[in-house]
Amino acid sequence: MADITDIDAVQGLLAGEGYICGRPLATVVFLALRLGRPLFLEGEAGVGKTEIAKALAAGLDRRLIRLQCYEGLDAATAVYEWNFPAQMVAIRTAEATHQADRRQLTAELFSDEFLIERPLLQALRPDARGAPVLLIDELDRTDAPFEAFLLEALSDFQVTIPERGTIKAEAPPIVILTSNRTREVHDALKRRCLYHWVDYPDFPREMEILRARAPEAEASLSREVVAFVQQLRSEDLFKKPGVAETIDWAKCLLALDVIALSPEVIADTLGAILKYQDDIARLHGSEAKRILDQAKAGLEAS
Ligand SMILES: Nc1ncnc2c1ncn2[C@@H]1O[C@H](COP(=O)(O)OP(=O)(O)OP(=O)(O)O)[C@@H](O)[C@H]1O
Ligand SMILES: [Mg+2]
Repeated sequence: MADITDIDAVQGLLAGEGYICGRPLATVVFLALRLGRPLFLEGEAGVGKTEIAKALAAGLDRRLIRLQCYEGLDAATAVYEWNFPAQMVAIRTAEATHQADRRQLTAELFSDEFLIERPLLQALRPDARGAPVLLIDELDRTDAPFEAFLLEALSDFQVTIPERGTIKAEAPPIVILTSNRTREVHDALKRRCLYHWVDYPDFPREMEILRARAPEAEASLSREVVAFVQQLRSEDLFKKPGVAETIDWAKCLLALDVIALSPEVIADTLGAILKYQDDIARLHGSEAKRILDQAKAGLEAS
């Protein structure tokens, strides 16, 4: 991390991986790296929360370890598990061959051979390239007990395995947590982290993202696409399109050889940007044309 000396360096590093971020996000990433604090990112779907961890790992040339959260996720799945079936086979084999030295067998059964390392334990292991990036993705999908457990794990970066003792990270991992805010994450956990709300990008930034992610799109089409999506986000929709949808849509339009937006083209390709039937139904008829007209008027005015 020797070359990350300031916020510009973070912006440059991420841009090198095709991730475009503004100064506030770059600042909080810089501080997370500099202070060794976990970074907690919240925001709507498809605004680039997960991607930032990937871009950071790639840019820093660190290993990316991802813990995907879901309801019912427990410590065994997140930290480690003993390979119980393999242990049973080893016991049976020892019995069959009369190798019955109990102490030796026990030591063997709790050796690395039978230890299944899950993401949180993997992240504590030394790595020649430097401490890994640990992405704890979609934390809002887990429950309170797991959050409490995580709070412990993140406070001292160590894990105790009763049969083996305590394993502590030589160099703590770079931790990024994300949430879609389907529920509030507990204050105690948030307090440990630096926080940033990842918002939808403004017009110039979304243009830049599209240039990075769909460089084959003509600038005139990209401008219309971004202006339309931005206008769409100001409408009363159940699920607003994220950056991921903007990129997808531009790629769909390219595949269809579209060079400019029209109400017909929009109606035919709405499935790339809106994923709820109610939202799609709202845009049928004259609505798509009205939004397109507004988007174009905005482009002309700028
Ligand atoms: N700032 C950005 N620069 C470049 N690409 C971006 C940016 N933001 C989003 N993207 C693109 O959008 C896609 C979706 O982003 P990502 O999966 O990180 O969203 P998310 O916020 O994690 O969404 P979800 O909440 O649904 O998981 C990425 O694959 C990436 O290509
Ligand atoms: Mg994500």
